[in-house]
Amino acid sequence: MKHILVIGANGQLGQSLRHIADQFPDFSMRFMGRSECDLQDPIQMAQVFKKHTIDICINAAAYTAVDQAEKEPDLAYAINARGTEDLAKLCAAHQVTLAHISTDYVFDGKATLPYDEQAPTAPIGVYGKSKWQGEQAVKEHLAQYYIIRTSWLYGPFGHNFLTTMLRLADQNKALTITTEQTGVPTSTIDLARAILGIIAHGSTPYGLYHFSNEGPTTWYGFAQEIFTQSGQIETTQLASTEYYPTFAERPKYSVLDNEKYKTTLEIPVRHWREALVEVMTLL
Ligand SMILES: NC(=O)c1ccc[n+]([C@@H]2O[C@H](COP(=O)([O-])OP(=O)(O)OC[C@H]3O[C@@H](n4cnc5c(N)ncnc54)[C@H](OP(=O)(O)O)[C@@H]3O)[C@@H](O)[C@H]2O)c1
Repeated sequence: MKHILVIGANGQLGQSLRHIADQFPDFSMRFMGRSECDLQDPIQMAQVFKKHTIDICINAAAYTAVDQAEKEPDLAYAINARGTEDLAKLCAAHQVTLAHISTDYVFDGKATLPYDEQAPTAPIGVYGKSKWQGEQAVKEHLAQYYIIRTSWLYGPFGHNFLTTMLRLADQNKALTITTEQTGVPTSTIDLARAILGIIAHGSTPYGLYHFSNEGPTTWYGFAQEIFTQSGQIETTQLASTEYYPTFAERPKYSVLDNEKYKTTLEIPVRHWREALVEVMTLL
């Protein structure tokens, strides 16, 4: 029996991990939200690690507000960089394996081909830089770690592009969605399965992995498919725009190459459209 602690349990990934937990009966999983295990409170985190048996910690907690991070960089770094460093040190002290979730925003988006794990990083905003520093801290303090970079998360829990699109369409709002960025929408349910699959595999080499669903698209392409699957494509006022100003600059191209994950785990990765079908049934 492996004892797994999930931090950030109330986020969209945290809730997805909880949703599929009983598909992994060999794991004893404990879920903690910010009030029980705060990345900004090293004393509280140390108490958690002292009190509970933990073999693996999954860090699904993060400061994820990309635009807001430009306005409050200290908080973003305090959580994503320093908080992750404190967590990594605790994992090292307690011989706990850390599965840490990171992001496509560690790249500048100037590539034209999918980014593999060797691709040079060059984050362009506070959020990406703070997550990149978190990755460095994990590598510096731990040998037993998985860093799993993912992209464009959405799912049945919490706020995300899918739930926002459906809410706005229900309110008969006209929607203008950007074609400026290319990436891959990734189901939090599929990511949760991938993370637990990496752990369950037993002999997955430690290190960095990219995991997203398959098939590049734009936010506009994602919106079109959402409304096609929801049966609202004819009734929703949906338009595309090449340029959509945001406070934080975003990588224009952030497709991740899943090859390492697929060959190591010997598991195919499904297209994002197929994953969306499942998520829609869970809403
Ligand atoms: N969302 C995306 O599109 C995306 C894309 C690529 C990678 N990622 C990465 O994937 C991971 C999961 O993202 P997500 O979309 O599930 O995020 P999310 O829904 O925003 O959830 C993040 C969770 O972290 C918690 N949290 C924030 N500060 C904390 C702290 N100081 N201590 C403990 N918990 C704290 C939040 O708690 P509260 O509920 O109390 O605020 C929230 O429940 C993150 O590492 C993120 O960087 C996300």
